[in-house]
Amino acid sequence: MKLVLASKNAHKLRELGEILAELGIEVLSEAEAGVDVEVEETGTTFEENALLKARAVCGASGLPAVADDSGLCVDALNGAPGVYSARYGGEALDDPGRCRLLLENMRGQLDRRCRFVSAICCCFPGGDTVTARGECAGTLAYAPRGESGFGYDPIFFCPPLKKTFAELTAEEKNAVSHRGNALRKFKEELERYLNGTDQ
Ligand code: IMP
Repeated sequence: MKLVLASKNAHKLRELGEILAELGIEVLSEAEAGVDVEVEETGTTFEENALLKARAVCGASGLPAVADDSGLCVDALNGAPGVYSARYGGEALDDPGRCRLLLENMRGQLDRRCRFVSAICCCFPGGDTVTARGECAGTLAYAPRGESGFGYDPIFFCPPLKKTFAELTAEEKNAVSHRGNALRKFKEELERYLNGTDQ
């Protein structure tokens, strides 16, 4: 079976491709499927946004399509930046700028609890969907630490490992991360779905 990834991110393509190859599924990029879809992420939940992206690419390509949506939710900020994680503080900010803004908005706050969330959704041409959610709980650091990863990794402290995500190797991060957890669950859910259908 072929499945299109609704993302322009080559890193996500490789990650998803590797895990779904174990089910005999070939993951195509949008370019390989001959589509180029821009989707406005207007949902208020990670699941809604993942579904919007997957549905749009499924409609355009005629193939099953999978998308993910993720972000960082901080308890003391009522879940912000949440689904707005990529756009926190406006388009002008880069990743370090967003980290600085978040630390600034958390200045003096002792409740540092936060979690990364990832939702993955696969949409089939008949309308069926398969969804999985992964989370990773942590605390917001007081200052950035580490050089690896991207986004909020330098300020996301993972208590069991006593390191920020930016201090982990890709393998170490994948073993505990929201995306790793969502991907492992997604693989199980998709396998269950495919075993129950003729896809
Ligand atoms: P998207 O799911 O590609 O839309 O990304 C959402 C945003 O959430 C990213 O731009 C990052 O700012 C943040 N984010 C999601 N996952 C991670 C992660 O694993 N580490 C750091 N930041 C992340």
